[in-house]
Amino acid sequence: MNQAEKERAAKVGKKLNVKAYIKAEIEAIRAQVGDKKVLLAMSGGVDSSVCAVLLHKAIGKNLTCVFVDHGCMRLNEAKEVKKVFKGKFGINLIQIDAEKRFLDKAKGITDPELKRKCIGGEFIRVFEEEAKKLGRIEFLGQGTIYPDIIESGVGGHKAVKAHHNVGGLPKDIGFEGLVEPVKYLYKDEVRKVGTALGIPDFMVQRQPFPGPGLAVRCLGELTKEKLDILRQADFIFRDEMHKAGLDKKAQQFFAINTNVKSVGVKNGARTFGYVIAIRAISTSQFVKAGVVPLPFAFVTKVAEKIATKVKGANRVVWDITPKPPATIEWE
Ligand code: XMP
Repeated sequence: MNQAEKERAAKVGKKLNVKAYIKAEIEAIRAQVGDKKVLLAMSGGVDSSVCAVLLHKAIGKNLTCVFVDHGCMRLNEAKEVKKVFKGKFGINLIQIDAEKRFLDKAKGITDPELKRKCIGGEFIRVFEEEAKKLGRIEFLGQGTIYPDIIESGVGGHKAVKAHHNVGGLPKDIGFEGLVEPVKYLYKDEVRKVGTALGIPDFMVQRQPFPGPGLAVRCLGELTKEKLDILRQADFIFRDEMHKAGLDKKAQQFFAINTNVKSVGVKNGARTFGYVIAIRAISTSQFVKAGVVPLPFAFVTKVAEKIATKVKGANRVVWDITPKPPATIEWE
């Protein structure tokens, strides 16, 4: 057993006992933090959501969560986060609508890596600014989970990839330490803890969503128009997947704005709109992924609905490429 495995065994034992874990973790947070304050960057994802509720149960108002809307969120995402975490749980949550700031910063950038760097860098700046406004906060909360540690090569494991979430946030802005209450849990265990904490199913069972969000699914330059078109198309596809029960067959399913325009016809008039791609993959570890064989009638129904209902989109293609050679995300 290496160090990380030993630490997991000490926290979780052979099989996770959800209730006992929650109780012990709340006590551990209180022991670590005392009456000091914790700042947590919330993304709306499962890991940071579970962290937020655990921290809130442990230290209540001494937790401040910050949700940065970088303008590349999915439809209604910011509203849902607010409703659940501020509304239902009463968590001290600050939402920052930074759409314009991010889009201004990303203006003219078309290279995928530069786009990622731009969004990531700006995210840190916005977060830092907000942290400064809040005054002295001693701890930074983070939704690191066990696979993040393994994939990053910590604890004697060989690095699979430099994980996006590890080291993603500034640690040099004066924090005394990190609080990572789900650090030794696998994803399915985090979900179990989330359910036991009363987080709604649609959030606990959420598919992974990359940090840069729709930026890596909206090819070429980021514009509000292209992102809005993508948001609507993506919502239709995901909604239909849920309604048809196909969401259970895929670990990730989403739409992409290909940045290609094609000619179409709506209500007897010529259109020139974006081509939307849809992608549904099945995978266990996200290192390799297969294409989910969606029923053809379903795919054509979704295509027609997107091309009809979404203004600015008039054609849909289906991405049937496994990983490798393609990656899951398009950028
Ligand atoms: P790829 O595209 O590399 O994606 O096959 C593998 C998995 O990682 C997710 N992904 C990200 N997650 N920040 C994240 O938190 C990112 O920048 C990022 N890029 C890709 C992707 O959605 C898939 O689950």
